[in-house]
Formats: sequence, structure tokens, C-alpha cells
Amino acid sequence: MSTTNDDFPTDRPAVVTCGLPYANGDLHIGHLRGYIGADAFSRALETLGQETAYVSGSDMHGTPIAVNAEQEGVDPEEFALEWHEQYAETFPKFNVEFDNYGHTHDETNTELTREIVRTLDEEGYIYEKEIQVAYDPDADQYLPDRYVEGTCPYCGAKARGDECDEGCQRHLEPGEVEEPKSTVTGNPAEYRGRTHKFFEVSEFADFLTEFLDGLEGTSNARNQPRQWIEEGLQDWCLTRDMEWGIDYPNGDNETTEDIVLYVWVDAPVEYISSTKQYAERVGTDEYDWRRVWEDDGEIVHIIGRDIIQHHTIFWPAMLEGADYNTPRAVAATGFITINGKGLSTSRNRAIWANEYLDEDLHPDLLRYYLTTTGGLQQDVDFSWDAFQEKVNGELVGTVGNFWYRSLLFAYRNYEGTPEADVSEEVSERIEGAIGDTREAVNDYSLRDIGQAATQLAQFGNEYIQRNEPWKLTDDDPERAAQVIRDCVQIAKAVGVLLEPIAPEKAQRLWEQLGEDGDIADAHLEDALEAPPRTFDEPGELFAKIEDDRVDELNEKLAERVAAAGGDEDEDEDEDEAEGEETETETDDTASDESAAMADATADTDALEPLIEDRIGFEDFQELDIRVGRIESAEGIDGADDLAKLEVDIGFETRQIVAGIKQLHDLDELPGEKCILLANMEPAELFGVESNGMILAAGDEADLLTTHDDAVVGEKVQ
Ligand code: MF3
Ligand code: ZN
Repeated sequence: MSTTNDDFPTDRPAVVTCGLPYANGDLHIGHLRGYIGADAFSRALETLGQETAYVSGSDMHGTPIAVNAEQEGVDPEEFALEWHEQYAETFPKFNVEFDNYGHTHDETNTELTREIVRTLDEEGYIYEKEIQVAYDPDADQYLPDRYVEGTCPYCGAKARGDECDEGCQRHLEPGEVEEPKSTVTGNPAEYRGRTHKFFEVSEFADFLTEFLDGLEGTSNARNQPRQWIEEGLQDWCLTRDMEWGIDYPNGDNETTEDIVLYVWVDAPVEYISSTKQYAERVGTDEYDWRRVWEDDGEIVHIIGRDIIQHHTIFWPAMLEGADYNTPRAVAATGFITINGKGLSTSRNRAIWANEYLDEDLHPDLLRYYLTTTGGLQQDVDFSWDAFQEKVNGELVGTVGNFWYRSLLFAYRNYEGTPEADVSEEVSERIEGAIGDTREAVNDYSLRDIGQAATQLAQFGNEYIQRNEPWKLTDDDPERAAQVIRDCVQIAKAVGVLLEPIAPEKAQRLWEQLGEDGDIADAHLEDALEAPPRTFDEPGELFAKIEDDRVDELNEKLAERVAAAGGDEDEDEDEDEAEGEETETETDDTASDESAAMADATADTDALEPLIEDRIGFEDFQELDIRVGRIESAEGIDGADDLAKLEVDIGFETRQIVAGIKQLHDLDELPGEKCILLANMEPAELFGVESNGMILAAGDEADLLTTHDDAVVGEKVQ
């Protein structure tokens, strides 16, 4: 990174945002991952002592809403507002507490969007151009964005008018999609000439390159846009032929008929508008929104990885062009899969927000699962079984167990916190956990934030086990008091550190400890402050999820997927391939046997028989096979065959262990393209994590590759 930021906490105000949900349908676990994640991150910043606002709003415009409203025969504004209100009610039920939750159609955002566009215009970054726009002659309407479908000109996948959602994930400009078909009538669309406004994104290539060098967050949010810049940036069409949206600000008098701003222009502006509304509510002395957005505050965007381009190219270019501050960090999360398959709202293969709440499951359990199951960039699989295992193991077994046994022992023997000083060992251990948390926040790692707390609780359990205070109360009361004093302190520290992830449970603990006020207001240092001398009898804060319950939840999910015409197999093959498969076959017998086959035209007798069982295309699609580029390769000490590779897969760089050490000159591998299975379960080989599997064939581990225009990160299909 070229610019270095001061570590959090800084003395500047921060804002944390999450991508705005389109106001057009029920919220599900995929949305929640982002909103809970951003909420947890903003709470963690506050725990560090960073002044932070957490804001977002509903995304009201654009064709997704126009299309759905039309289908229901209602006005888009009314339609979107209804969803907006539902979202605003639902988020707090997951302890997602925005400092402000607005929407893009309100006055603040309408005005600010127009002002920013006007500034870009004045600065000379906007021009007019005639372009070809899809048009449906039968419906007699233009077909912006989702009104048209066709083929992606970059990767050939089926694409929407404005995004290659099933393929390379690129944003598509009007007129780009090939073989356009109207989604209104299903007929082929024609292209017609129309004049539209363009933003000169291409002018910002140098600025963006430098911006990306200093950008924090996840590596996918830096690497993907770097590649787009390398390929050459296109200017960005800012307007659309439709009615629903914010009118283009054409000077003071004229508005162009039926032309509105593209939804992606006004949507991110809501980040600013929402911050402004918050500041205006609490007073600008209290929270200086101008310092954040116009000067040097810390802007952190947490988004899904499908909208990286909007947040790392268009949005920073807009901010820079209109003389605003640009983001410090963009952290892009992976997707959620359900029982190993893609979340699909149309197939009802999803966990819906309201459904989860109706099951009376505590929100903090889901918060913990979603934030700590994988790294931020990784896709996270949700299954009720894995959920049960994590909750019962880590929250019930480790955290809850430690809290309850410590507080109960303290209450029974001392009516609260015994009078003794915390031992050096324990205060050092707590300080270590505080340090880990601080580091985790600066690494944008929610999983590590959670783990710092859980591991401290784990230490607490071991500490009790090791010291057996129940044996000491009679023999060595002083020592007993000391041990319990330590435990109470650890319990409190775990609460403070876990609060960002499990705020409600942490608050209950706070109350059980007899503390006043909100644990959300506590800072890291409070983890070392003594709790009140006395407290009441504690209760258990976590309850085990029983097997019957999981069976029931699984059944319900399977039933509704089936009812939606789904494809949930009865006996899903659970035996996922394990780590060994990350190695290409190089064992001795294999090479001896085939030494005879010097000829490349292999004798079919020596080949593995073909597998009789056929698989469907859907099954094939579950293999996420990608084009990668090897960045580095080195041998693994102690392993004869294994090499550790760093492989760029477009979104991120993967560490992969492959059995090719003897078969390739490792120095020659960097720069080579390869093909890998990207959704291979991570495994450990010789203590080295392997996160993917390189595909190879033959005795010499001939690496599979592509030969033409496939770019790094592209899916093999
Ligand atoms: N509504 C968009 C989506 O769901 C996200 C908008 S995020 C913002 O993909 F940056 F525009 F705010
Ligand atoms: Zn594509």
C-alpha cells in the first residue's frame, strides 16, 4: 500500500455503511450477513474508542423495483416505501442498530444527488452522446437494465441489461448486452438511437490506481478493479429512459422527458445523505458529517462482492470528481450458500429473516454464525446442522458455560466479585485478547474479533479446570478467592470483547455482573476494570439447540424447497472430498505402473475406467472451477512432493498446496496460468492450509490451463 492509514482508533470520526437493500422483497440470510457484519464492525470500532456512525437506507429506484411494482400493479413509490418500512422494523430485531436508516427517494438524497451531478457537470466530467438503447416495439417502450436480457459480450454468460450476474459479474453499459430480449414481452428487442449523459470515468484511471493502492478492506476489492483498470475503463452512462427515479438536473428549468438518473448514481449518495441526517438529528457538534465526507474522516463500506465495481470504480470517481472524501476501506463479503447449494429466493432455498425470528431463535446466535464461520471474503455455507454445532460448541459449550460457572461460583461463595487482585497471568491474558481484538478490527476480520472473545473464554475454562477452585475454598480460601476473582474478570472481558458480535447476550452478562448502563458503551480497557463487588444469582445465557429441533428445521426447509419445485435430493451426498485430494496423484505405484506409457497416446487399458453414473448440469455447476495465475511457488519443508502456491483467482489470492514439488521447476511457475477448483473445502497438509485444488493430469502433473482470452478469475463452464 502506498498510503498508510493510522490504525483504528483515530481521532477522526468514522462512518460504516452496508450496501443498500433494494426495497423489493423479503430480507434473507444473504442480506443479513452484510448488515450484521457491518453492524458488528461498527460496534467493534466503537469498542476500540473510535467515534463511529453506522448508516444505510433502502434503495428505492431502478428497474428491479419498477418491474416488481408493475407486476403487482402498484405505484413504485408506494411499493418501495412499504418494503422500506418493513426493513426498518426488521433490522433492530437482529440487533442491527443503524444510527440512521433513510431511503434514496427522500428529499435529502434527491437534493444531494442532484447537487453532486451538477458539480460533476460543472467540473466538465459529464458529456452527452447518442447511443443505441434496447427498445421493445410491441410494448412501445425503451428497455433499460433489467427490462432487457441477453448475452454478456465479455464472457458469453446469460446477462441482464446492466450486469453479468451469472458470469463475470461485470457492470454492463446500455447497448452492450448481445442478442437483447425484452423481459416485458419476451420478444427480441431492437436497438434505437437515444441521447444520454455520460460520466468520464476513464479520466480517473490514474486517480483510481492510486486510490486502490491505499485502499483497506478485503483483497478482492482491490484486485478485481485493478484488472478492470488494466483492461481500460469505459465512461459510465448516467441516465435511463424511464420515469421512476431522480430526474436529471438539467440546469434550473428544463427536465428531459422520461429520463432519470441511473439508480447507481443516487444509491451510494444515500451513504452521505444518511450520515447527514444522523448528524442533523444529534447535532453537527456531536457528529461532524462534513468532516467525514468532505474532509478526512474514515469511510468504511461493507458490501457484497457482486458490487465491488460500483464501490471501487464509479463511486470513488464520483466522490473525487465532486471534491468529496474517498473511502478508507471497502470490505466485500462472499455469498451465502444453503446446504452447499446457491441461495435461491425463487426456489425458496433461503433462510428468511422473518422465518428465523418466528422460530424464536436468538438473533445473536445467527450473528455469531454469520460473522465467525468463514473469513469475510469467503462464501459461507449455512445449514441447520452446522449452525447447531457452532452454537452448541462455541456459544453454549465455551462462552455460556464459562460465564455461568464463574458467576455462579462467585455468587455462591462471595455474593459477587471476591476481594482480591487479578493475577498477573490473567491480566496479561486479557491484555493479549484486547490486542488481538484491536488487530482483528484493523484487519477487517470479524471472525478474528469473535475468536478473540471465544478463545479467552476457552482459556477461562482451562483456568478453572487447572486450578480447581472447588477444592480450594476450604483448604486455601485466599487462593480460592484469587482464582474466582480472575474468573469474574475474564467473564467480564469476554463480554466486552463479544459485544460487537452478540450485543444482547453481552448486555445480559453485564447486568448479571451488576454493571450499570450499556455494555455497548464500554471500551476495550474496561475489560480490565473490576466488576461491582456484589451481584445477584446468575442465570444461563445460552441454551443448547437439541437434535429434534434441527431435524424439524431441516424438514421445514426441505419441504418448502420442494414446494417451490426445488431439487433438494433426499440423500444428499454429504461426504465432501477431504484434504488428500488437494494433491495431484504422484504416489510411486501410479508412476511405476504408467512408466510404460511413454507415448502420449495412452493405452486405454492403463486408464481409469470411465464413471458410469452421469451427473446433471446443475451438479457440474456446483464445481467452481476457475482460471488462476500462479504468483509464487515454494516447497514445503518435510514434504517430498508438496509445494505451496499462491494463486491469484481474480477476487483474491489463494494459498494452495499441490503435489507437484518433484514434477515442476517451482521457479518457473510464477506467472503461469492454471485451472483450479475454487470451492474445494480448505484442508491442512503438513500444517499448511490449502484453499483450493489445482487441476492436473498425467504422471508429470501436467497443469491444466487455458490458451486464449480467458482472464484470471473466469469460471470454467
Ligand atoms: N441495492 C444495491 C444492491 O442490492 C446496492 C446499492 S449499494 C449503494 O445491489 F452503494 F448503492 F448504496
Ligand atoms: Zn460476463
